[in-house]
Amino acid sequence: MTSNSHPDSTIKLYDLHPPLDDFRTEVLQGLQKPQKAIPAKFLYDKRGAELFDAICTLEEYYLTRTEIAILEDRATEIAELVGNGILIEFGSGSSQKVRILLDAMPYATTYVALDISRQHLLESCASLAEAHPGLEVIAICADYTQPLDLPEILSIKDKHRVAFFPGSSIGNLEPKEVVQFLKNTAALLQSNGSLLIGVDLKKSKDILEPAYDDSQGISAAFALNLLTRINRELGADFDLEQFGYRAFYNPVGRIEMYIVSLKNQVVHLDGVEIPFRQDETLRTEHSYKYTVPEFQALATLAGFQPKCVWTDPQQLFSLHYLRLL
Ligand SMILES: C[S@@+](CC[C@H](N)C(=O)[O-])C[C@H]1O[C@@H](n2cnc3c(N)ncnc32)[C@H](O)[C@@H]1O
Repeated sequence: MTSNSHPDSTIKLYDLHPPLDDFRTEVLQGLQKPQKAIPAKFLYDKRGAELFDAICTLEEYYLTRTEIAILEDRATEIAELVGNGILIEFGSGSSQKVRILLDAMPYATTYVALDISRQHLLESCASLAEAHPGLEVIAICADYTQPLDLPEILSIKDKHRVAFFPGSSIGNLEPKEVVQFLKNTAALLQSNGSLLIGVDLKKSKDILEPAYDDSQGISAAFALNLLTRINRELGADFDLEQFGYRAFYNPVGRIEMYIVSLKNQVVHLDGVEIPFRQDETLRTEHSYKYTVPEFQALATLAGFQPKCVWTDPQQLFSLHYLRLL
C-alpha cells in the first residue's frame, strides 16, 4: 500500500489499485468462457467514469435523481441516526450524493471515499475537501469486492462507522456475492457500525430497459468503452465498428447488459485468438433489482438488522439504513 497526501489539498491517498496484470488475467479468462463476460468494475477508466456521470443526467436514468430526492428529503433524519460517525463511501465516484449528507452533518470529522477509478476518485475528493475545509478526507483506490485491511480507518477508535453505498451498485454483484460483500463490510465496520445503502426496486421493464439502453446511446458508449480500454491498456485489436450493445430485463430480477458482435470475427490479445460469432454476446454487467423484503433478507444473512427504509412516492428506489446486530 502506498499512502501520500495529494498536492494542494488535505486528502490522504491509499493506493491499493489492482495491478495491470490482474486486469489482463481477468479479461483473458472472461473472453475464453462459453458466455464471454468481463467484470463490471473494469468499465470505470477515466472515460468510463465520465460516461457514467453523463448517464446519471439522462431522463431515462431515473436512479440518480430519485436517490438524490430521497437523500434530500431524509438528510436530517439520517444525520441524527449517523451521529458523529465516520462516513466510508464505497464506489464513491463523483462523491455527489455524500455532499447532501455532509451538509446535514456540519460536525462530521472524517470522510473516507473508496473507488477503483483512481483519477476520478482524486478529483472528486479534491473538490469535496475544498467545499468542506474542516473535514478529513481519505481516498482509497481499491477494489471493494476484495477484503480490505485499512489501518488508517481502524485506528479511529470509538467512532460509529457508517458505510455509505449509493447508486444501487450492489446490484452489480450476484446475490451470493452480496452476502459475502456485506460480511466483509460488517468486518470493516466493527460491532457498532451501520450501513446506508441505495437499492433499485423491481418495476416494469418499460421503465427499466430504457434506463440501461438510452435513446442517445450513452449507455452503449459506456459499455463499448471497455473494448477501447482493453485495446489501449492490453494491446488488443477490437474493431469498435464491429460491435454493438444490448440491454434487457430478465424476469429473474435483473437487467443484463451485453456487447454484441456484429459479424463473425477474431480478436487478438496477448497472442491468444478470441473468436466471436455473429450476434455472440460479451456480458458487461448484471444489475439486480430487489423488493424491500428481498434485500433485507440478504442483509440479515450478513448480520445486519434493518432499521429504516425510505422509498420515493413512485416506488422506484429504496434507501436502507441497517445496523450490525
Ligand atoms: C454505478 S457507479 C456509482 C457512482 C456513485 N456512487 C453514484 O451513486 O452515482 C459505481 C462506482 O463504483 C466504482 N466501482 C465499481 N466497481 C468497483 C469495485 N469493485 N471496487 C471499487 N470501486 C468500484 C466505479 O468506479 C464507480 O465510481
